[in-house]
Amino acid sequence: MASLFLPLLFLTISLFSLPSNAHNITAILSSFPDYSLYNSYLTKTKLNDEINSRTTITCLVLNNAAMSSLAGKHPLSVIKNALSLLILLDYFDGQKLHDISNGTILSTTLYQTTGQVEGNLGFVNITDLKGGKVGFGSAAPGSKLDSSYSKSVKQIPYNISVLEVTAPIISPGLLSAPAPSLSDVNITALLEKAGCKTFASLIVSSGVLKIYQSEIDKGLTVFAPNDEAFKKAGVPDLSKLTSAEIVTLLQYHAVAEYSPKGSLKTTKAPISTLASNGAGKYVLKVSASGDDVTLNTGVDTSRVAETVLDDTPLCILTVDNILLPKELFATSPSPAPAPAPVSSPTPTPATSPSPVEAPSPSEAASPPAPPISPTSEGSPATTPGSSQSVISPSEASYFKAPALFKILGTVSIVLVFASFS
Ligand SMILES: *[C@@H]1O[C@H](CO)[C@@H](O)[C@H](O)[C@H]1NC(C)=O
Ligand SMILES: *[C@@H]1O[C@H](CO)[C@@H](O)[C@H](O)[C@H]1NC(C)=O
Ligand SMILES: *[C@@H]1O[C@H](CO)[C@@H](O)[C@H](O)[C@H]1NC(C)=O
Ligand SMILES: *[C@@H]1O[C@H](CO)[C@@H](O)[C@H](O)[C@H]1NC(C)=O
Ligand SMILES: *[C@@H]1O[C@H](CO)[C@@H](O)[C@H](O)[C@H]1NC(C)=O
Repeated sequence: MASLFLPLLFLTISLFSLPSNAHNITAILSSFPDYSLYNSYLTKTKLNDEINSRTTITCLVLNNAAMSSLAGKHPLSVIKNALSLLILLDYFDGQKLHDISNGTILSTTLYQTTGQVEGNLGFVNITDLKGGKVGFGSAAPGSKLDSSYSKSVKQIPYNISVLEVTAPIISPGLLSAPAPSLSDVNITALLEKAGCKTFASLIVSSGVLKIYQSEIDKGLTVFAPNDEAFKKAGVPDLSKLTSAEIVTLLQYHAVAEYSPKGSLKTTKAPISTLASNGAGKYVLKVSASGDDVTLNTGVDTSRVAETVLDDTPLCILTVDNILLPKELFATSPSPAPAPAPVSSPTPTPATSPSPVEAPSPSEAASPPAPPISPTSEGSPATTPGSSQSVISPSEASYFKAPALFKILGTVSIVLVFASFS
C-alpha cells in the first residue's frame, strides 16, 4: 500500500508546489531597509502583484529619502502612476544601461499599460550621459533627464532587475492629476452602462449600495454579474430568498479590499467577502490561467469578464455568473427557504455588518441573520454557515487545483482499496 501511495503523494506535492510566478518583489525589497517606503507603496497600490505577474521587468527603486518626495504628499492614485512609470517592461541591468545603442532609448512602462495615458507619456527616455552617467526622464519632448541610475540592487536574469535611481520620473501632468473623487462615483450608473442593470437595481432596492459606499475609502472590489447571468438556465429563483438572504448574497459579491485583476491573478488563499462572518465563511476561491481569472464559490464558478472601474481604492469588475455562496445554496439545487415573501423591498440593514478581513474567532460581526421561518414544518431555511464544506477553506488554500486534487485523491483512495482487496 505504501509503495503505491508514496509516489502519488510525491506527485501530489510536486504538482501543488509549482511556483505560479518566479519572483516576489516584496520579498526581494524586504531585505533592503533603504527601500521600505517604496516597498510599502508597491503593496498599497497593488503594483507588487502586477510586477510579480510579469516576466522581463525592471523596477527602478527610490530610497526612503527620494520616496518621501512622493509619499504622503500626493493622493494614492498619483503615487501609483508615478511608481508605474518606474516599472519598465524590459530587462535592464547596469551593463545593458551602458550599452544602449546610439546612447538613448525609449522604454515602455507599466504606466503605459493603464490605458489612461495620452501619447507616449507612459514611456521613459534612458540616455547615456557623459562620464558614464545614465539619465532617466519622461519621453515627452523637452523633458529633463533629472533622475539618474545610482546602483544595482538585485538581478534575476532575465526575469527581473532592480536598480536604484535618484529621483522619480515625472511626466507632464502626472503630479497635478486630480484624485478621483470617489464620493462622486455613481456606482449604479457605471453598472447600468456596463450591462449590469439587474444587479444595479438589486443593490439599490436592498440597501446594499449603502454598505458598498461605506467601504470604498478602505478599499472595495465589486463583482457585478451582468444581465445575462440572471437569465441563465439553472439560476435559483431569487424571489424565494428572504430580504436578509438577498442582502447576504449581494454582500457576497464584494470584498473589502482593492483587488484589481492583476492582484486576483496572484491570489492564492480564499478571499473573504463582505458577507464573511467567520473563518472560512462566505469566501471565494480564485484561480488564474494566463489572463483569465475564475472565481469559485464551492457551488458554481464564474469568469471575471470586464473591468468597469479600476481606481485605487475602488475596483468594479463584471462576472459572467451569479456567485452562489455554498452557505445559501449548497444543500439543494433550488434554495428552499420558507416562502417568506419579500414584503419590504428596502430593508435597511439595521447593523451594517463590518467586513471580516481577518476572520476573528469571535463571530462578533455577523450579517443580518435570516428571519426564522414562521412555519416550523417544511424545508428548513438554509442558515448561513450551516452547511459542511467538503474541503475546509484552510485546507483548500494549499491546493491550487482542487479538481485535480480530488481526482488524485480519488485515485489514491481507489488504490488503497485495491491494495486491501
Ligand atoms: C524566470 O521566469 C520563468 C518563467 O516564469 C521561470 O520559469 C524561470 O524559472 C525564471 N528564472 C529564474 C532564474 O527564476
Ligand atoms: C511575497 O513576499 C511577501 C514578503 O515576504 C509575502 O508576505 C507574500 O505572501 C509573498 N507573495 C507571494 C505571492 O508569494
Ligand atoms: C542609431 O542611429 C542611427 C542614425 O541616427 C540610425 O540610423 C540607427 O537606426 C540607430 N540604431 C538604433 C539601433 O536605434
Ligand atoms: C532622450 O532625451 C534626450 C534629451 O532630451 C534627447 O536628446 C533624446 O533624443 C531622447 N531620446 C529619445 C530616444 O527620444
Ligand atoms: C446615479 O445613477 C442612477 C442611474 O443612472 C440615477 O438614477 C441616480 O439618480 C444617480 N445618483 C446620483 C447620486 O446622481
